[in-house]
Amino acid sequence: MTATPDELVGTPPTLADYLHLRAASGLTPRSEAQGRGAVTGSWRWSVVQHEGRAVAMGRVIGDGAWYFHIADMATLPEHQGRGLGRRVLADLLAQIDDAAPPDPYVTLMADAPGRRLYESMGFVETAPRSLGMRLAR
Ligand SMILES: CC(C)(COP(=O)(O)OP(=O)(O)OC[C@H]1O[C@@H](n2cnc3c(N)ncnc32)[C@H](O)[C@@H]1OP(=O)(O)O)[C@@H](O)C(=O)NCCC(=O)NCCS
Repeated sequence: MTATPDELVGTPPTLADYLHLRAASGLTPRSEAQGRGAVTGSWRWSVVQHEGRAVAMGRVIGDGAWYFHIADMATLPEHQGRGLGRRVLADLLAQIDDAAPPDPYVTLMADAPGRRLYESMGFVETAPRSLGMRLAR
């Protein structure tokens, strides 16, 4: 029997797959209401499907012109280290390059597990000029 190949698609994961991928990969779990917004309201998605289920994902929130934020980079633990995260990120960056005018501003918040990947794909720290901040309440 031949193994099912992984397929990279530009459609969002199902809500169930989105919530599962976040929780299973160790990201903060999100509610169904939050997940629905992510699945329906993002500028672009890149998802790797394996046997009909999303096993790796990333998305871009943005204005489609210059400001793009990459979020929800996650690969199921049993599929990590196989190049899927790199594939997803490369695809998202290609989608930005294809659609945006020159010089897009592309940001992300880099949790420790993703830092090597992001650096290897050209991301640099914004400090000291800009510090990432979030509303703490
Ligand atoms: C970050 C993450 C999405 C990477 O996904 P992945 O599918 O394992 O990534 P890849 O297999 O494409 O590996 C990409 C790079 O990550 C780095 N990497 C892989 N395994 C690593 C490990 N155990 N420790 C540190 N870096 C590692 C390497 O630089 C690798 O590049 P290489 O292929 O040239 O060696 C995944 O580790 C994950 O889901 N982590 C938990 C959720 C999370 O913290 N997401 C980041 C939020 S900002």
